[in-house]
Amino acid sequence: DQFTSVRHKLPMLSLDNAFGGEDIEAFQERNANKLGLSILTFCCEPKLDGVAMSLLYEDGVLVRAATRGDGTMGEDITHNARTMATVPLRLQGGDYPATLEVRGEVVIPRNAFKRMNDKQAGLGESVFQNPRNAAAGSLRQLDPRITATRPLVFMAYSVGLVEGGSLPGSHSETLSYLSHIGFKTSKLTEVVEGWQAAEAVVDRILKKREQIEVDIDGVVIKVNDFEQQSLLGFVARAPRWAIARKFPAEEEVTTLLGVDFQVGRTGAITPVARLQPVFVGGVTVSNATLHNADEITRLDVRIGDQVIVRRAGDVIPQIVKALGDRRASELPGVAFPDICPDCSATLTRDLDEAAIRCDNSL
Ligand code: IVH
Repeated sequence: DQFTSVRHKLPMLSLDNAFGGEDIEAFQERNANKLGLSILTFCCEPKLDGVAMSLLYEDGVLVRAATRGDGTMGEDITHNARTMATVPLRLQGGDYPATLEVRGEVVIPRNAFKRMNDKQAGLGESVFQNPRNAAAGSLRQLDPRITATRPLVFMAYSVGLVEGGSLPGSHSETLSYLSHIGFKTSKLTEVVEGWQAAEAVVDRILKKREQIEVDIDGVVIKVNDFEQQSLLGFVARAPRWAIARKFPAEEEVTTLLGVDFQVGRTGAITPVARLQPVFVGGVTVSNATLHNADEITRLDVRIGDQVIVRRAGDVIPQIVKALGDRRASELPGVAFPDICPDCSATLTRDLDEAAIRCDNSL
């Protein structure tokens, strides 16, 4: 309740989901039939796993930034958006509508997220569950100086309100235009003919998922032509002309079987969770990091718990949450050792550090 509410003049919609090629085929068939065509041109782009943001420009100047909220009412986060290097305060180029709303996703690249979490853990502070939660929390700061320290990136994916001027006639040309006036857009966007070609883009992007610097949870397939989009319109809260082809989940639930303690190169002791093997993000995961003693306390995780495991890209799998409410009975906690599991020296902890170390005194 500390943020001012903002009404979106055009609602920020959600997307229907598709889980396989057959759903994309049905999506094409529905839309092609409505338009009296046999094949459609699609713009395919990564579905970024972040937080939606709307940026309103008047005469090329940023006047308001808002979260999506429930799609109709969002929150005013202008003070925070202004701190982001990827949010132009003034549009480039000089050729833009008098009122232009740019929409996109705020993300945190995985490398930057890892650095940010390592820093938090090193300071003994709680770590963020995933880049999306970190982005959401960073945008909802009352003090923009905190937001300014977070590695947030805005990637534009569409326009909302346009008044006093016009834009190109298709989605892909609009993305090029957005890039031209100063926004970051996805380089993986492809324009294709027909659903099979769209599904081939999905395969290509899925194969590259690990190398892509930000978390993506699918591919958004959009009818490219704006005139066709407006003929197709909306049902309930989602457009008929776009669909989210989802990837396999990067978070799954499994059981914590035990915890081992590993001695790192610097002597820091890292707790490693042994898990009931689970297929997540495209591979089978049986170990996950628990970072440090504070993280074990924060998660309040017990041996035998159901836990949410997250694996994104090449980042070491992590336990993001213990499902304590699923515990049928009391379960044993995780006891941090007093002595080094390798050399039996007494472990030490510096007052200002989260890490517990073996100083190799033996
Ligand atoms: S288009 C009406 N394009 O997905 C069209 N959305 O499930 C809706 N999202 O809240 C937006 N990447 O924040 C679009 N390339 C992309 C996207 C994208 C991520 C998010 C968006 C929206 C949610 C809808």
